[in-house]
Amino acid sequence: MLDLRAQYATIRKEVLEAVTGVFDQQSFVLGAEVEGLEQELAAYCRTPYAVGCASGTDALILALMALDIGPGDEVITVPYSFFATASCIARVGAKPVFVDILDDTFNMDPGHLAEVLEQHPKAKAIIPVHLFGACADMDPILELAAKYGVAVVEDSAQSIGATYKGHLAGSMGVIGSFSFFPTKNLGGCGDGGIMTTADAGLAKRLKSLRVHGMEVKYFHDEIGINSRLDALQAAVLRVKLRHLEGWTAARQAVAARYIKQMEPMGLPVKLPLAAEHSTRHVYHQFVIRAEDRDGLRKTLEGAGIRTDMYYPLPLHLQKCFGYLGYKTGDLPVSEACSRECVALPIYPEMTMEQVDRICESIGSHYN
Ligand SMILES: Cc1ncc(COP(=O)(O)O)c(C=O)c1O
Repeated sequence: MLDLRAQYATIRKEVLEAVTGVFDQQSFVLGAEVEGLEQELAAYCRTPYAVGCASGTDALILALMALDIGPGDEVITVPYSFFATASCIARVGAKPVFVDILDDTFNMDPGHLAEVLEQHPKAKAIIPVHLFGACADMDPILELAAKYGVAVVEDSAQSIGATYKGHLAGSMGVIGSFSFFPTKNLGGCGDGGIMTTADAGLAKRLKSLRVHGMEVKYFHDEIGINSRLDALQAAVLRVKLRHLEGWTAARQAVAARYIKQMEPMGLPVKLPLAAEHSTRHVYHQFVIRAEDRDGLRKTLEGAGIRTDMYYPLPLHLQKCFGYLGYKTGDLPVSEACSRECVALPIYPEMTMEQVDRICESIGSHYN
């Protein structure tokens, strides 16, 4: 699906120098490297503040904590995403409420959001996800949030550098959350995450919440969590951030090749074309919707081509969310995507020959 070793080979010297610097300093948790990354990431996302933490999951949990969301509150999100998008809501004691996605973008359906907001007066926040590298349709989502007085937390874990009408992912809601899981477009050498915000008060609160609600050492104003970013991660991420734009361009070239090769084949496959509003798709994943999905995956596996399913079971039908009372058929677009999705390999170092071979195998499956 991706080859992290190929990427490491291109930056090995820079990474080892950065990591050696941290070992020489012997300062491992938060500190100057993390502050440096926070400043550089904030500048990259064009947000005034960025606050590092231990994972993308924690970034979502901390965001909800900073917004005082807890028992008795509801938070609206999509069921077609990684588990953490919804588990963070339950983790702070609130109730997840699901809105379906759009058929062509895999992202939140603002029309359905309007209906759900009307039916859920206890909703305190909306978490749109910028899935697979493309932004959700933020204008109507932000308008509805303003109308109903709810906060917007952008789950930008998969979309660093993506834009919506010129605005970067993570700069449009009150808080943006990012993951540095190693397979992400900007991935560390372990877990890590960051939150972006334009609100100085929220930035201060997030900084306190990530260290047990502590601003002055050993004096706790509130109960936070332990979710600190390591200096080693920050040092590696600062190196990789310098390469991110080049890697994004390479991902876009791979995606363009997939589309160019497959479009004329007339296959029973829906390609991930960037929505008109999504002016910059960073292709974290290249997910197609395919007839005979499982058969296609088998054919590709037989040809030595790894694929994956993002996501095989939507969140509203997960066992652990049974208590919410959703049933099959409630969110039909998410359910259809779960049945039809195939994620094809995509990473910056992939060659056009590799893409062509995959397209040929897909073509041969249907012909
Ligand atoms: C959409 C989405 N949200 C949240 C997360 C959670 O991030 P992490 O794995 O860093 O906790 C991920 C990462 O897998 C993700 O893809």
